[in-house]
Amino acid sequence: MTVNDSAYLGKGVKVGQHSIIKENARIGNDVVIFPHVYIGENSQIGDGTIVQYGAFIEHDCKIGKSSRIGTNTVLRRETNIGDNSIFGSLSASEGKNWIGNNVLIHSQCHLTTGIIVEDWVFIAPLFVGANDPMMLHGRRRIEKFVPKGPHIKFGSGIAVNVSLLPGVVIGRECIIGASSLVTKDIPDFSIAFGVPARPVKNVEDRWRLQEERYHEFRKRVSEEELAKIMEKILSDYN
Ligand SMILES: CC(C)(COP(=O)(O)OP(=O)(O)OC[C@H]1O[C@@H](n2cnc3c(N)ncnc32)[C@H](O)[C@@H]1OP(=O)(O)O)[C@@H](O)C(=O)NCCC(=O)NCCS
Repeated sequence: MTVNDSAYLGKGVKVGQHSIIKENARIGNDVVIFPHVYIGENSQIGDGTIVQYGAFIEHDCKIGKSSRIGTNTVLRRETNIGDNSIFGSLSASEGKNWIGNNVLIHSQCHLTTGIIVEDWVFIAPLFVGANDPMMLHGRRRIEKFVPKGPHIKFGSGIAVNVSLLPGVVIGRECIIGASSLVTKDIPDFSIAFGVPARPVKNVEDRWRLQEERYHEFRKRVSEEELAKIMEKILSDYN
């Protein structure tokens, strides 16, 4: 393993063979880092988090406490993940995005730049989020690229193989059915599916998360604060 002298390792940290920890990275107490992990400059990993085999975490990422970063994941620069969250094996974050607490992201998902995933969201395998409506690759001299990531609100469940078009908002505690393509915003507490996805009914009240959890989340970060955080994360595109 190669740990840069300026990196900080808390008490009880375990670092596996061939792992690399770069300048000014901060690794909290009791973090377990498997072999062949890369942790870039200034990245922070909270207490008790597990970083599994082969994870590649670029610079300036922030991962909270008691989370798990799966095998062979890629977290590009300025990926923010909260506490008690799971980022599943083979999933990739394009960086400059925000993922909350108690989020479960399954394997083989693509978390695009600018995406916001609020607390208690579940995302099943093969999720794709898009952020560039015009696919400006090679054409940025014609139009400026500002990522328009989707926003998945508190407690929503996204079934297998769902794609979200740029900037769509999935409301609070929605269910988006398998293989949906979401092209427009989905209102709070809706069950929606299809290509394009249409809301078909509301989730039953008994299916809602406890209200205290929502209050805890809102106390931690208001809607306005979240918008400001994302504005700051994306400021170098403006
Ligand atoms: C969205 C979902 C919850 C809907 O379930 P439901 O409300 O019980 O719906 P039903 O099974 O009663 O189906 C109602 C109708 O919608 C259709 N339908 C259901 N889900 C659909 C979907 N994802 N896409 C297109 N049509 C769908 C059904 O074929 C049925 O059509 P019909 O009335 O012509 O027969 C379910 O389809 C789903 O996607 N579950 C999540 C599975 C999953 O990915 N889990 C993650 C595991 S890791």
